[in-house]
Amino acid sequence: MTEIPTTDPAELRRWRADTPAAGAGRIHLNNAGAALMPLPVFNAIHHHLDREMRLGGYEAAAEVEGRIGRVYDEVAGLLHAPGAHNIALVENATVAFAQALSAFDPGPGDVVLTTRNDYASNQLMYLSLAERRGVEIVRADDLPEGGVDPDSIRTLLRRHRPALVAVTWVPTNSGLVQPVEEVGRICAEEDVPYLVDGCQAVGQMPVHVESLRCDFLAGTGRKFLRGPRGTGFLYVSDRALAAGHKPLFLDMRGADWVGADLYELRADARRFENWEFAYALLMGLGEAAWYARGVGVATAWERARALALRVRRRLEEIDGIRVLDRGAELCAIVTAEVEGRAAGDVVVSLREQGINTSAIDRVSAVIDMDEKGAATALRISPHYYNTEAEIDAALAALESLVRGPP
Ligand SMILES: Cc1ncc(COP(=O)(O)O)c(C=O)c1O
Repeated sequence: MTEIPTTDPAELRRWRADTPAAGAGRIHLNNAGAALMPLPVFNAIHHHLDREMRLGGYEAAAEVEGRIGRVYDEVAGLLHAPGAHNIALVENATVAFAQALSAFDPGPGDVVLTTRNDYASNQLMYLSLAERRGVEIVRADDLPEGGVDPDSIRTLLRRHRPALVAVTWVPTNSGLVQPVEEVGRICAEEDVPYLVDGCQAVGQMPVHVESLRCDFLAGTGRKFLRGPRGTGFLYVSDRALAAGHKPLFLDMRGADWVGADLYELRADARRFENWEFAYALLMGLGEAAWYARGVGVATAWERARALALRVRRRLEEIDGIRVLDRGAELCAIVTAEVEGRAAGDVVVSLREQGINTSAIDRVSAVIDMDEKGAATALRISPHYYNTEAEIDAALAALESLVRGPP
């Protein structure tokens, strides 16, 4: 069976002790949906909500002003960004992505170069730009083994001189890891702005924004990072800040209204934020970034990906299951078609047995799903705090579901 990297048993015990659902009868394999928050994250949120109730929302925020600053430091540290000034905190990855996209304001004839596997909501934003602004959306070719072909990116980039290249690092719908560093090198060589959707990557695998050479990277709190729902962030490079990139709709967080027809833009990435915040969730996000760095993202990545490989290999042994993952590099997201069953129904049956997974339908990734000829897919996404025994129990439950009653 698959080689799982040796994990210090005491470490694993500590991670699981911080995760109340672990070992309490629930097997959580839906970390690509929303991972389980560790206790310190929950406690930070709970504590701040308590202060809001007792003190008042604005007063409680004033009390933790220094700690709010540290949330930016933690997120910047997690992404290996130059500093807190590169980070904007927002509600989710979609908002972060939209804010970045809006900075480019492409018009008729301008090209956005992307991939066939970019996230559904991002594809919808591109289509909306095409419809309303006459922008041309160009998708680079994939390699035969799956994943975008960097040579196709280079060719299309030279042909079209796009206003922007946008790539989803880890698509929601398959185990694929896109070659974002290579694409970044090409964009840098050709001097074209580069936006990365890092939503499924942050917390799952090490992120070094400067190695990616991206101008923007959008992320979310609740997935592999183990933060609360309703949190997201946007990394904005020093180059993008210096170029004056700003969202289409600024608000009073991003700029000061200094004269009737005049505003002054913030110097840092917070120009991409909204004024209002769920401060309790922000406290949780900071704690999640701190916790992830404490575990070690490289350690988490190595273990989660090995657990996923164990899932993939077991699935391949079950009759009536087709593993759908493609790509030269695969991650801790595993997708499979269950013959004769809608994935949503399988998710419900497994959940009734205390096993959390999720389902992908065609509209989540229409190009990919049509190419694979799959209508729905079961998604199993382990994390470092899962155990081999949990994987085996979940797969045994799935196998008996597929086989049906004896
Ligand atoms: C690859 C990818 N990008 C973006 C998103 C959107 O993230 P959010 O729901 O935080 O806006 C998701 C959510 O599943 C995703 O998988």
